[in-house]
Amino acid sequence: TITCVIMAGGKGERFWPKSRTNLPKQFLNISGNKSMIQQSIERLELLIDISKIFIVTNELYAELLKAQIPHLPHENIIIEPVGRNTAPCIGLASILIEERYPDSTMIVMPSDHIIQNDTGFIEILKTAVKVANDNGNIVTLGIEPAYPETGYGYIESTGVNEPVNDVNVYRVNKFVEKPDIEKAQAYLESGNYYWNSGVFIWQTAVIRKYIKELMPEMHDILQTMKYAFGKSDQNEIIATEFIKMPDQSIDYGIMEKAKDIFVIPCLFGWDDVGSWTALERIDELDENGNVIKGNILNLDTKRCIIESNGKLIATLGIEDLIIVDTEDVTLICTKEKAQEVKLLLKELRMQK
Ligand code: GDD
Ligand code: MG
Repeated sequence: TITCVIMAGGKGERFWPKSRTNLPKQFLNISGNKSMIQQSIERLELLIDISKIFIVTNELYAELLKAQIPHLPHENIIIEPVGRNTAPCIGLASILIEERYPDSTMIVMPSDHIIQNDTGFIEILKTAVKVANDNGNIVTLGIEPAYPETGYGYIESTGVNEPVNDVNVYRVNKFVEKPDIEKAQAYLESGNYYWNSGVFIWQTAVIRKYIKELMPEMHDILQTMKYAFGKSDQNEIIATEFIKMPDQSIDYGIMEKAKDIFVIPCLFGWDDVGSWTALERIDELDENGNVIKGNILNLDTKRCIIESNGKLIATLGIEDLIIVDTEDVTLICTKEKAQEVKLLLKELRMQK
């Protein structure tokens, strides 16, 4: 059986002010006329039935999820009482899925990436599942790096190719999460590094084994939760135990330390839509390189990203700015600082 876990608990803070705590990025239509999570599910349904798709999210977003994906069985919504990053999210999903579908091969993915070639993506997933089953290990999907991004994980291939179905499958030398700019530059130049797309494929037993070995504290909590399965207070126990989980991403907790990882280089057109500048790669640009959405009048405006919420935004003689107007907030920011938009939120919270 193939199962899929979509991680949808992120806050999307770099897309503020459009993305808000009560309506984060994955539930917004950033590109196209459906939300990112709706698009992710539609794409996956080309491979598996909705009954095998699980979504892990925060309590805050359960109702939003039900409204956006009405045909998702409610028992497939896995609720976290608090956000503890992706390792606990994956850990909890793995024990619940193990219970429902023993011996499944899990595809774990983010809720908020954009993929251009849906069928290409599905074909790669089929191969990845085969690789994960054949060698009983972790399979990652790698993206050819285009620039020294410091917000991604990097996967170094050993160059040893073990192709499956005519698809190249490389053994991994090491996995480095979010390197500094010097390292990212060196990785880009070396040519045998890939960006981590954030999609992982493994058998449930394999990720459980790695958690036991590399995150024993989390393993113990998961065992306590498993012990409560089928008891009347199961949900309460899961909730109270979950709060004790370490706050850690799967990338730092497992991927950097795991041995025998595999990477499949992918060409399906991928973007993680990490911040406002992603729109320059996803949307059409006008003749001056601007991304323009909504009611906008611009003269002598170059390489800007401007989104109006109805009110006219008029610009003259500006370059490389992000301007986003929402009902209660207007953001004006240089493109250079796009990654740091969350600092504004931090400041706002401190002032409250
Ligand atoms: N349920 C749940 N709970 N989901 C979460 C949580 C959580 O606590 N934290 C994050 N997520 C979801 C996000 O919504 C997103 O879909 C996904 O998990 C990845 O989290 P991000 O916070 O976006 O990670 P990142 O972008 O910093 O880094 C990861 O993705 C990169 C590619 O986009 C890493 O895997 C990098 O190695 C990778 O290159
Ligand atoms: Mg991300």
